Amino acid sequence: MKKFLGVVSLLAFASVALAADAPMQKASLYKRLGGYDAVAAVCDDFIGRLATDKQIAPFLAGHSQDSLKKLRQNLVDLVCQATGGPCYYTGRDMKTAHAGMGVTEAQWDSAVADLVASLDHFKVGQTEKDELLGAVSSFKKDIVEKQAMK
Ligand code: HEM
Repeated sequence: MKKFLGVVSLLAFASVALAADAPMQKASLYKRLGGYDAVAAVCDDFIGRLATDKQIAPFLAGHSQDSLKKLRQNLVDLVCQATGGPCYYTGRDMKTAHAGMGVTEAQWDSAVADLVASLDHFKVGQTEKDELLGAVSSFKKDIVEKQAMK
């Protein structure tokens, strides 16, 4: 029994020592943004801006309410997954979803400006803003089909 207790306390000491040594894990961007409700609120605000953005609105016109609800849910899932949240994105990949729309660089820039406005509206910190915009910018090559003339 004495030997057993000795082993147990040795293990306890070792795990405390290891924990103290382990580097502090940074919380996921998803958590730092405030979790699901915060991500969903940013997406809703973003969609509201897209819907009144002259560069983007024509692309959304004609979609049924149900299609827009699906698009909204897919956007929330995509952002949730891309920021390290527990969601699983089941929509189409960005290339397939936007193929043939002929999205221009100017339309892309306008959509990103709308997203920045939403993040500013919710007073998202600069670090989190930069990280989210970094994740979103990785989609650009799959969404933009018409590059700006150089
Ligand atoms: C910030 C960049 C963008 C992100 C993160 C984004 C994300 C998405 C997502 C997640 C979907 C849903 C895909 C699906 O339902 O399977 C989608 C669909 C769509 N996107 Fe984008 N998008 C972006 C930029 C744009 C731009 C610049 C345009 C147009 C100028 C655009 C037009 C559309 C349209 C019309 C659909 C609906 C397609 C359909 O199901 O009929 N998107 N987008």
